[in-house]
Amino acid sequence: MKDWPIGIFDSGVGGLTVYRAVKKLLPNEKIIYLGDTARIPYGTRSPSTVKRYAHQDAAFLIKYSVKMLVIACNTISSVAIESLKLAFSVPILGVIEPGAKRAASITRNGRVGVIATEATVESDAYKIAIKACQPEIDVFSQACPLFVPLAEEGWSSHHVTKLVAQEYLKPLIDQKIDTLVLGCTHYPILRNIIQEIVGKNVTLLDSGECVAAEVVDLLQQQKAFASSKNGDDLFYVTDSGKRFRRTAELFLGEELKNLTAVDIWQTDTTANVLGSLDMLTELSDIH
Ligand code: DGL
Repeated sequence: MKDWPIGIFDSGVGGLTVYRAVKKLLPNEKIIYLGDTARIPYGTRSPSTVKRYAHQDAAFLIKYSVKMLVIACNTISSVAIESLKLAFSVPILGVIEPGAKRAASITRNGRVGVIATEATVESDAYKIAIKACQPEIDVFSQACPLFVPLAEEGWSSHHVTKLVAQEYLKPLIDQKIDTLVLGCTHYPILRNIIQEIVGKNVTLLDSGECVAAEVVDLLQQQKAFASSKNGDDLFYVTDSGKRFRRTAELFLGEELKNLTAVDIWQTDTTANVLGSLDMLTELSDIH
């Protein structure tokens, strides 16, 4: 089992921030990544829709005998982690708790900002998790829905992104936060612009990096580190891979091998996920 891959999934390209962080700490592990690019964004959808999509994503990866699932999406982690844990027997890690714990431990003035999708902000998941660590911390949340398409577009240093960021971040700057959680896996792609606007005295926290450390801890506890690299990582998307490839290569700084488009949504309802795995169809190979 230790040579089984790790499954990482997100609604799109943003989860590659988690992929990169895990890869950096665990270069020997084989990773299978799924980006549900046909249905992004998840962050503007209702919790029940996000849950349904998340179960289909997870069911797809389970087919590859993964030894654990990492939810590289804050929206899914906010609203669906508990139901995923009930439905699947492999260990499942999400990004909220690791990011919240780190934020609570590093804030100096007890004023933490969280930027995320609308669904994550509405769920209050970060606020609840940060306050569970330190109840006296004040948490200020701001939804930044336009950041996702800007990141997907690869506009990480575009002046339009800067204007949008100024608008979104002003209320948090006014609240004198000293720590800002990038509570959406797409946002680290825009990290430089965000840092420039909030200023260098505000510590940016990438929840993807925080979860990567927990992946290491879990493998350590379970004595499940891969003994050797067992083939290349595989990347799956649910729409044409052209756009994904462009942004991914820009972000990862390397050529993306093994990218395949798949159809995962013929599986329906949580109850049917395992029973309907046979219906998964590989649409086209887009290496
Ligand atoms: N990956 C999502 C998240 O971290 C953002 C993109 C989306 O809305 O689907 O919340």
